Amino acid sequence: MGDFRNRGLSRRRARWERCRNRDKLAQMQNPYDRLIIALDTPEVAAATGWVERTGGRAGAYKLGLEFLHAAGPQDVRDVQAAGARKLFLDVKLSDIPNTVVGAVRSIGTLQPWMINVHAMCGAAAMRAARDAAEQQAEELGVARPLVIAVTVLTSLDHSALEAIGVPSTPSDAVRRLAVLARESGMDGVVASPLEIGVIREACGPDFVIVTPGIRPAGVGLNDQARVATPAAAIQAGADYLVLGRAVTAAADPTAALDAIAAEVAAV
Ligand code: C5P
Repeated sequence: MGDFRNRGLSRRRARWERCRNRDKLAQMQNPYDRLIIALDTPEVAAATGWVERTGGRAGAYKLGLEFLHAAGPQDVRDVQAAGARKLFLDVKLSDIPNTVVGAVRSIGTLQPWMINVHAMCGAAAMRAARDAAEQQAEELGVARPLVIAVTVLTSLDHSALEAIGVPSTPSDAVRRLAVLARESGMDGVVASPLEIGVIREACGPDFVIVTPGIRPAGVGLNDQARVATPAAAIQAGADYLVLGRAVTAAADPTAALDAIAAEVAAV
């Protein structure tokens, strides 16, 4: 009996994964679907304002710790209602498996499109996160959120890694953690433009790569060091680009988004 149920579940999962891969291919057709706007603000009005000003046209919008620690679930729903159909909740979970599962389930009530976990939590926590997301999505009858991993924070260089007891170069550590993330059921990783190549090579074409640090030609670096233009990041193998100030600080955010979409379409 258990066997039949498991086989049914595996078939459903396999079917679902095939759909997901088709989704990934379909996304390549529409450049806007590959663009995620980072709503980096603690203010609900500012977040909804950016969604409205870009007409909800970006493929997804990202709410990070700055917003989520200031706002509540209703504020997140307000951002969805403003037009952010797909939300990446950049929660960067890092805890023991049991707590990660609880957090995934709490976040899951908001039906995000994507969430993330620190790969440094280890294989068990990542597996637990993925299983919890899958189970809850089945219970709710909705699509499972993509669960991606943060490998090595881009703020950590070689000496910072050594100081926390990691004796490898950032690139080696990223590769190892990306492979572990894939083996632990993660759909993909967040990666700086400089790490895309190594991850693509180690994890294959279906592994989702989400890349921040995007700066169109002529836009200031601000505090980012490892940056790429939208076209360069896509050419390197990124699936999705996270756009913060390149869009939100532009005099005309819609025009900035359109220009980036055009650049991506031309690759
Ligand atoms: O304004 P900017 O384009 O630099 O914003 C980048 C966004 O991507 C921010 O939300 C930032 O937190 C996020 N991010 C990043 N680097 C990482 C991971 C996330 O810049 N390694």
